[in-house]
Amino acid sequence: MDKILVTGGCGFIGSHLVDQLMTQENNVTVVDNLSSGNLEYLSNWRTATRNKKSKDLRFIKADLTKSPLQIVGNYDIVFHLAANPDVRLGSQNPRIQFEQNVLATYNLLEMMRKKKISPRLFVFTSTSTVYGEADLIPTPENYGPLQPISVYGASKLACEALISSYAHNYKFRAVILRLANVIGSRSTHGIIYDLLQKLRKNKTELEILGDGSQTKSYLHVKDCVSGILTGISKTPNQVTILNLGSEDQINVLKIADITCRESGARQVKYKLTPATSDGRGWPGDVKFMRLDVTKLKSLGWQPMMNSEQAVETTVRELIMERLRRF
Ligand SMILES: NC(=O)c1ccc[n+]([C@@H]2O[C@H](COP(=O)([O-])OP(=O)(O)OC[C@H]3O[C@@H](n4cnc5c(N)ncnc54)[C@H](O)[C@@H]3O)[C@@H](O)[C@H]2O)c1
Repeated sequence: MDKILVTGGCGFIGSHLVDQLMTQENNVTVVDNLSSGNLEYLSNWRTATRNKKSKDLRFIKADLTKSPLQIVGNYDIVFHLAANPDVRLGSQNPRIQFEQNVLATYNLLEMMRKKKISPRLFVFTSTSTVYGEADLIPTPENYGPLQPISVYGASKLACEALISSYAHNYKFRAVILRLANVIGSRSTHGIIYDLLQKLRKNKTELEILGDGSQTKSYLHVKDCVSGILTGISKTPNQVTILNLGSEDQINVLKIADITCRESGARQVKYKLTPATSDGRGWPGDVKFMRLDVTKLKSLGWQPMMNSEQAVETTVRELIMERLRRF
């Protein structure tokens, strides 16, 4: 049993990760400011704790942009997922991503340094957007120079650099996972969530951000969690960088078709709204993305779903999730 800290553990990916860590009988502390996370996602485990079953989960409400002293403790592993993952936001308000991503990460690392907390492992969820508009697709981990085109990508790259320097200076191992688009139940942002919200309001016309030709790789959250856990199991280096994504791509129009089909919306008229002259959904939108995941696969990871299957599954999951709520 490991003692584990998960920041952002009430969020979309974080709560799925916590489910898996709790299933494996670890001792888990979640820290979250609940800005986009939902405490309900931990309810299975919190109920179990109250009933004095063997599971042990602690929740601390804290904001990492402030000095997070409430979470001081000894941990074997720290999973740092807390962030603002909304890529679109960066073009309107860069400061939010500087604070929620860079400052929050710095505060966490500084708290660890000052309180002499040296976990065996520090795990960080970075993003494919650090590559910017790579001219090599699928893009391997050693691609460079890294030139993000969104503030979000830049903020996560800054976090990677901070983590690398702290890992070397203060002697802990770090694993940085660069995630493609992750989708699945509990997601509260991203294209499928957005399309479903719009279809609920209007089943005849659907606004699509961009010209619809954006083509990227989509990974189901279950494959994401299994990738994270595989990635951290065999990484001997001080700092290891691993891509995590599905091995194919799907374009936005196809995602819209699947979303309409699965939600029973027929003959929907698409309204394409490119934000730039070359058809991006928003300034800083990388139009084409697929990661080279050879490195993670060589450690034994294999995704269960391709992009299309992940999209279909997610649409069904989000529809069921909403039905259950009413
Ligand atoms: N979802 C994706 O497609 C994707 C892709 C690449 C990388 N990532 C990264 O994965 C991680 C998780 O993303 P997600 O999609 O689950 O997002 P999410 O918004 O669902 O989860 C983030 C969690 O962090 C919490 N949080 C935010 N700021 C905080 C702060 N200052 N202090 C404490 N808690 C805070 C939120 O309340 C939320 O629970 C993020 O680091 C994100 O950058 C996500």
